Amino acid sequence: MTKKHFTAASAALLAGLALAGCGGGIDEESTIVEGGSPERGRQAILEYGCTSCHSIPDIDSVDDESVAPDLHGFSERDFIAGHVSNHPEELIEWLQNPQEIAPGTLMPDLGVTEEDARDIAAYLYSQ
Ligand code: HEC
Repeated sequence: MTKKHFTAASAALLAGLALAGCGGGIDEESTIVEGGSPERGRQAILEYGCTSCHSIPDIDSVDDESVAPDLHGFSERDFIAGHVSNHPEELIEWLQNPQEIAPGTLMPDLGVTEEDARDIAAYLYSQ
C-alpha cells in the first residue's frame, strides 16, 4: 500500500532522514503517545474488530493481505494511508475519522473515541 503511494516527496523525506543518520521511518520520540496505554489499546483493538481487516502484532492475523495493510512495524512507516505523516496526533485523528482524511478510503469510520484512539496509537507504536 505505501509503495503505491511512494512519491518524490517521500523520497526526499527518506533522503533527509538518511542524512540525519536515521535508519528510515520516523524517529522514536515522535511515536510517544501522551496519556496512551498500550494495554488498553490492545483491548480496544479487539473490541472494535480491527483484526477483521488488519493483521496486528500479537493480536491476530488475517489470511487475505489484500484487504488492508498489515500493521506490523507500523512505527517504521512514514505515512498513514499514504496521506498524512505518521505521528501520534495524525494517527489518533486517522483512527477516529479515516473518511475525513482520505474520502472514499476502504477504512471505515468505526466511531472510535478519542481516548480509545490514543490507547490504540500507543499500542501500534509499541509493536
Ligand atoms: C473494513 C476493514 C477495516 C477495518 C475494520 C479497519 N481498517 Fe484500518 N484500514 C483499512 C484499509 C483498507 C486501510 C488502507 C486505507 C488507505 O490506504 O486508504 C486501512 C488503514 C489503516 C491504517 C494506516 C495503515 C498504513 O499503512 O498506512 C491504520 C493505522 C489502521 N487502518 C488502523 C486500524 C484500526 C486500529 C482499526 C480498528 C479501530 C481499523 N484500522 C479497522 C481497513 C480497515
